[in-house]
Amino acid sequence: MSMKGKVVAVTGGGSGIGAETVRVFAAAGARPAVLDLDKDAADAVAAETGGIGLSCNVCDNDSVVAAFAAIKAEFGRVDVVISNAGISAPGYMLEISDELFHRSFEVNFFSHHLVSRAAVKLMREGGGGCILYNASMVAVNPGPNLGGYGAPKAAVLYLMRQYAVEHGKDGIRCNALNAARVRSGITTDKFIAERAEARGVSKEEYMRGNLLQHEVTANDVANGFLLLSQAEATTGTILTVDGGIGAGFPR
Ligand SMILES: NC(=O)c1ccc[n+]([C@@H]2O[C@H](COP(=O)([O-])OP(=O)(O)OC[C@H]3O[C@@H](n4cnc5c(N)ncnc54)[C@H](O)[C@@H]3O)[C@@H](O)[C@H]2O)c1
Repeated sequence: MSMKGKVVAVTGGGSGIGAETVRVFAAAGARPAVLDLDKDAADAVAAETGGIGLSCNVCDNDSVVAAFAAIKAEFGRVDVVISNAGISAPGYMLEISDELFHRSFEVNFFSHHLVSRAAVKLMREGGGGCILYNASMVAVNPGPNLGGYGAPKAAVLYLMRQYAVEHGKDGIRCNALNAARVRSGITTDKFIAERAEARGVSKEEYMRGNLLQHEVTANDVANGFLLLSQAEATTGTILTVDGGIGAGFPR
């Protein structure tokens, strides 16, 4: 799957799934723009992959617009945007603070709109493109203690389809990816230990708790994004990269 000459922008590209996605697209020949709140992390991944690192807070429209202006100045276009940045927001519904719940919607939902809007404007100038959203298996399979995270992720699936509906005519494809249980800055050892204990299984069993008994890696997810970026006749859909979880089958 060649991405030779294509420009890919990845939000939250400084860590975890985003960083691995930058590496996979760069290995396929793409020129990456790595956007992250953590500029040092973005610069490090950019240096490793021959791209540019950009400081960007995806919750701040001015910051997003400035980042896309920098992408245009450097590359003149953007072909693939992977709207990936996100945070965890644990808490049962009666206990999660209003502040964290709202913050989660800012980062895990509204930011995707700000990024999509900036992406569409630049993609239209270039005659089309592809926007990919990192949603989550939780978006269709709610779990206790995950509402503050899952609710905005469910809304992202709707947002993805809304952009697909409104911008197919511009040659812009929009698709989402639902992953689960991937080691990263969010899914830390501590988080894995807590979830495993709550389910009465070992950490390894928890991470392989899917039909394929396969621990999903950031590389699996990155390859899922690469696959979607090449699917020229596909828009408005969801790809699962979760090892197979029946309750997480999209419907
Ligand atoms: N790890 C999993 O099991 C899993 C499963 C499904 C979906 N996801 C999603 O994958 C995405 C990436 O998360 P990850 O697991 O790689 O975690 P991570 O913490 O390793 O990476 C998240 C990155 O986003 C950046 N970020 C956070 N807020 C930002 C903001 N306001 N502006 C710009 N950048 C910001 C962080 O600095 C970090 O580099 C998230 O959307 C997450 O919800 C993760």
